[in-house]
This record gives sequence, structure tokens and C-alpha cells, in this order.
Amino acid sequence: MVRAEKRAGVALVTIDNPPVNALSAGVRRGLLEAVQTAASDADVRAIVILSSGKAFIAGADISEFGKSPQPPSLPDLVAALEECPKPVVAALQGIALGGGLEVALGCHSRIATPAAKVGLPEVKLRLIPGAGGTQRLPRLIGAASALRMMSSGEPIDAATALELGIVDAVVERDLVEAASARALDLAQAGSWPRLRERANSATPEEREAFEAAAKEVFRRAAEMPNIAALIETVRATFELPFDEGLALERRHFLRLVDDDRSKALRYVFFAERETARVPGLPKDMPVRPIARAAVIGAGTMGGGIATCFANAGIPVAVIETSGEALSRGMRRIDSTYETSVRRGTMTAEEKDRRFRRIEGRIGLEAVADADIIVEAAYEEMGVKKAIFAELDRHTRPGATLATNTSYLDVNEIASATSRPEDVVGLHFFSPANVMRLLEVVRAEKTAPDVIATSLSLGRRLGKIPVVVGVCFGFVGNRMLARRTAAAERLLIAGALPHEVDAAVTQFGFRMGPFAMADLAGLDIGWRTRQSLGTKAAVADALCEAGRLGQKTRRGYYAYAEGDRTPHRDPEVERLIGEISASRGVERRTFTPDEIIERLMYPMVNEGARILEEGIAARTGDIDVIWLNGYGWPAWRGGPMYWADSVGLDRIAGRLDTLATETGDDSLEPAPLLKRLAGEGLPFANLTQERF
Ligand code: 3HC
Repeated sequence: MVRAEKRAGVALVTIDNPPVNALSAGVRRGLLEAVQTAASDADVRAIVILSSGKAFIAGADISEFGKSPQPPSLPDLVAALEECPKPVVAALQGIALGGGLEVALGCHSRIATPAAKVGLPEVKLRLIPGAGGTQRLPRLIGAASALRMMSSGEPIDAATALELGIVDAVVERDLVEAASARALDLAQAGSWPRLRERANSATPEEREAFEAAAKEVFRRAAEMPNIAALIETVRATFELPFDEGLALERRHFLRLVDDDRSKALRYVFFAERETARVPGLPKDMPVRPIARAAVIGAGTMGGGIATCFANAGIPVAVIETSGEALSRGMRRIDSTYETSVRRGTMTAEEKDRRFRRIEGRIGLEAVADADIIVEAAYEEMGVKKAIFAELDRHTRPGATLATNTSYLDVNEIASATSRPEDVVGLHFFSPANVMRLLEVVRAEKTAPDVIATSLSLGRRLGKIPVVVGVCFGFVGNRMLARRTAAAERLLIAGALPHEVDAAVTQFGFRMGPFAMADLAGLDIGWRTRQSLGTKAAVADALCEAGRLGQKTRRGYYAYAEGDRTPHRDPEVERLIGEISASRGVERRTFTPDEIIERLMYPMVNEGARILEEGIAARTGDIDVIWLNGYGWPAWRGGPMYWADSVGLDRIAGRLDTLATETGDDSLEPAPLLKRLAGEGLPFANLTQERF
């Protein structure tokens, strides 16, 4: 994991811990030993720390958090580097994150290549730097800049790091040589800077700049416990001696590592990466090259998907049946880009470059040179099958044929072609150019290389692709349907839309189900219910009254002209009351906790069925879908992770009661849920993978 060699008086200590040189116990031990050996070797005058692979060091090994600590600790290692009797120089050839940058800050100088990046991303895991970063970085670049960098968690490039003074030089070539020369210069000079010894003689202006930055940072993230801790520890650089500041940082770090919200975020970090490992799909499965794409349908969804391709640098044809529909679609795409330019998130040149990659075409013949075709036409089986039958005639052999259906049976769609092995579902979420989730729907005959191609394409488009099986609504919408039904049931039983929405936003969602329905338009669900022959008394009544949501300024709420703020509407509350009365329901109030139970437990139950049926391979995949497609709060880890924290026996028990109370069989605990609850086990215990 760590190897050392001597070259002209310099010990070159190389970290080699693929894939990203995380600071596992073995690396920490190896580094310490290598530095101690070099320190006592009379032939060595200076030390350079470098790494193999594309990262310098990606930080502490997150998978070790919460396990029994193995010596040396990271703070001890950094202290040993700093106190080394010979100068130590960090040679940064790639990204240095978190503990990786802290190791570099313990060194006496830092030299980087232009491609290097540095950052302290701990806040993203609801932590703070825990190996001296909060004390050393402010002493190096000033407390205000250091606080901004640590509170954003975003890495900065080598040029910016040089400007700020985090690195001492950026060299185009011969990094090791430059770092060695720097190390020998320091040895020759006989003294080298140790950040711990740097007096923090802050001027009133510096102090003022820090307090102003702290105020701004706190305003943006006041509800995050780690931000207050971060500000306090950085402020300590003005007020406390180095070692006391370090001790304060450590106390906060250990407390935050133990916080459930950080644990959930660490779970999410690994769950999102785990989705790439699809059971039964060899890692080295070749992917089909994709140089050109075609999207069928220039509606909101089709336009959004085309934008994803254009943004990723892939030329794309948007295909419509009429010139009018096409120009409407192209105008919508143009105006989405225009908004980015107006907001300053994209230059006009960049917009032109991307927009030029999108070509509007009439007629399905235009798919002929595409490597992938994504159908985003009207959500009706007849329409889809007719399109796929025609695609079969026009596409070239080996092209991937994808459907963006949200509910329909991909097996049946595939059966309309002579090459069902090329057919896959690619379920984008609206707005497609923004939402990160991509459900990759594996149909019965989908070829493994088509799945591999879809995963690789998804990542190219900046998405988090998750493979799911065929069923009505796949994973996300199938579970959502349970929540929607539960929300409707709550209204009839006595809750009001604003009470349900308040409970859900308090839980951590940005929006409650009713505000969300108003935003999306109530007619979407209405159409689906009509096609399925199902009913939802309140939602149907609202639609029949012409209340279709924000677009008609009336839905579950009322909206003032040009304002999206939902207001309670007595008319809606009266209508709900009438529906309850017509069913002989005596309305009662619900606490926020009861509302959450009634909304979320049926979803978890559906998640258990999804696992049983093998529609999702693992609980983590379900969680990733809800985190990235439906706004589940990341610090709660996803519905299945959250269910474990509630306790499956409690959930199964409540579902039993609800099923009896409502007479709704779908609320009966799923066999898997029942079994785990009976055995006192969590979902996390499920190790078997399906597909
Ligand atoms: N610990 C453990 N494993 C890590 C890791 C880490 N810090 N960083 C990355 N990995 C693993 C990933 O799980 C993944 O494993 P897999 O291939 O088995 O799924 C593999 O490394 C590659 O990671 P990515 O898929 O994310 O690769 P990318 O090239 O897309 O990104 C990266 C590389 C930018 C380094 C990204 O992985 C990243 O942001 N890592 C996390 C960095 C981080 O948060 N560091 C701070 C840790 S906390 C800390 O240092 C505390 C300290 O202050 C005491």
C-alpha cells in the first residue's frame, strides 16, 4: 500500500491503494513507518510523498468510520509528518480531498500538477475536517477563505490553490523532480514552515472578514449541526492555542461521525456507487459505442432528454410528426437554454454550441444513423408498439432501442420488434435535464451489453442509473402510487392538504404530496386513473371542478396570479368534508407522526414486495431511486434505510392494523417484511442479490 525508495538523498514515499488512495489503516501505518524510517536514515535528507493512480488521496477511508479505530489515527499521522526532523513535501498529481489535503497540510510544502485539485468535502457527509484541516488551513490562507472552502465542500483547481497559497508551485512536468528539489532546498536552508507553529496574528480586518463569512455560511445552512461546529472550530484559530483548537475539532468530528444523519449520508455514498454493480452483469461487459442519438417526441420529456445528450456532447436528432410540434419543441429547448444564459450559469457561446447539437427532424426515417433511439412519445401501448415496429425497419443493426415509458410493459413494447434483445427502458425523470435518476428497465430479452451500454450512457449523461425489472411503474412510481393512495385516504379520514404537506416537509422533503401534485398538474394522475379504470374521490372531484393545479391557479390549494405560494382554500376543505360525510366517515385529526406512518409505511411495504419479486436487486437501489428521483431527504438515507431505523416489527404491526381498519389488502405486510420483522432483522441484513 505504501512503498519507499531513495533517490539522491530524497526518500520517495508512494501511496498505492487503488482505486483512490483512501487513507485506510494500512496506508496510515505504511506512511508512518516509511516516514519514520526515512527520518532515521542518514542517507536521506528530505522526503517526498506522492501517490500512484489518478488521485493523490481521496481522504479518510469512509468505510472505516464507526468501526473500532486502528492506530495510527489520521491526526497522529499528520502530526508525525509535521514534526518530522526532515522536510516533507507533498507532490499532488491528482485530487487531494479531506484527509488527503490534511496530510498535505501536515507536510512542509505542497507542489502540484495543473490537473491536481484540492478540497475539504467533509461537510457533504455532515462532518467537519477531523485531522487538523480546520486549524491548519485558516493559518495558511486566512480564516474567511478557509471557512468558505470548507463550508462549500467543493474542490478547487490547482491554479486557484496556488493563488490562495495552498500549494507553493504548479509544475507542468516532472512533478517528482520539482518536489524533490523543493524538499532538498528546505533541507539546505535548515528550516521549514510548520503550520502548527504559525501564529494567528489576525488583524481586526481579518477577524471582521471571517465573521462576515461565518454569518453568510450560517444563513445558508443553519439547520446543519456540522456548520455551527465548523464555524466554532475555525473561530478557535483566533482564540485558542493550536493544540486546543485541534482538540476541539476532534471532539466535534467524533460527535458528528456518530450522528445518524452523517451515518445515513455515508450509506448513501456507497449505495450510489453500488448501483453500478449489477448482479449477473460482468464488470468487463463491452458496451456499444454511442456517437449519435435520436429522441422521438419533442414534448417536455423528449426535449429534456435531447438536452441531456447535447449537454454531454452527443449529437441528437429530435423527431416529430409535424412541423408545428417540432418547432414548438425546439422553441421550448431553446428557452430552457436561454434561462441558463439569463441566470449566468451558461455563456451564450456555450448555449449555441449545445443547441447546435440538436437537430429537429420530421419522420421516423431520421433514426437511421443513430446508435441509440429514445422514444418519448405519448404514453399509450398502441402508440409505442407502432413506433417500435417502425423503428425496427429504419434503425441500423446493433442500435439500442429505448423507451421512456413510466408505466407500460417494456416486454410488450419489445415484442413489436424483431430484435427485443436491443430494447430497454430508459425512464428519465422530469425535468429530464436536471433530475439525476435514470431507471434502466431490463426487459426479459434485453441483452446484457444493452444494459451495460445503458449504464455507461447514463453516467455519460451525468445521471445515476439504477437497473430495475419490468412491472407497473417500475420501482419509483410503483412505490409513489402507494403514498398517493395513502395521502388521499388521509384526506377522507380527516386530515387537510396543508397538514399532510407540513408533516412531509417537516420530515425533510422539499414539498408535500399535494403541493407537488398541484405543481405537476392533477390531470396527469386523472388520465392515468381513467386509463386504468381506478378512482380517487378527492382528486377526481378536483379535476371535475376544473382544478388542475397551479396551471389553473386552483388545485388542492389556491394560487394568486403569478405566485406559486399555496394558500388553503375553503372550497377544497368543504369538498373533502362532503366526501367524508358521504362515506359516513367521522373526521378526526392526525398528528404529524401519524401522517408520516400512514404515508411512508405502505411505501416501505411496496419496497419489500419489489425486493421479493426481484424488481430491484437490493434495498440500496430502492433508496437511491427515492433520493434522486423523488426528493427523499438524503440525511434519512432512503425509505428502506429509514425503515430499518424505525424497526420493521413496528412497521409490520402498524400495517396490520391499517389493513384491518381500512379493509385494504394492499396494506397487509408483505411476506418479506413479515419474515424480517418476525426474526427481528433489518432490510440491511438482506444479502442475497436478485436478477
Ligand atoms: N473512502 C472509501 N472509499 C472511497 C472513498 C473514501 N474516501 N472515496 C472513494 N471511494 C471508493 C468508492 O466507493 C468507489 O468504490 P467502488 O469502485 O468499489 O464502488 C471508488 O472509490 C471510486 O469512487 P468513485 O466512483 O466516486 O470515483 P470517481 O472517480 O467518480 O470520484 C472521488 C473520485 C472524487 C475521489 C470521489 O470518490 C469522492 O468524492 N470521494 C469521497 C471523498 C471524500 O468525501 N473524502 C472525505 C472523506 S472524510 C475525511 O477525509 C475525514 C477527515 O477529515 C478526517
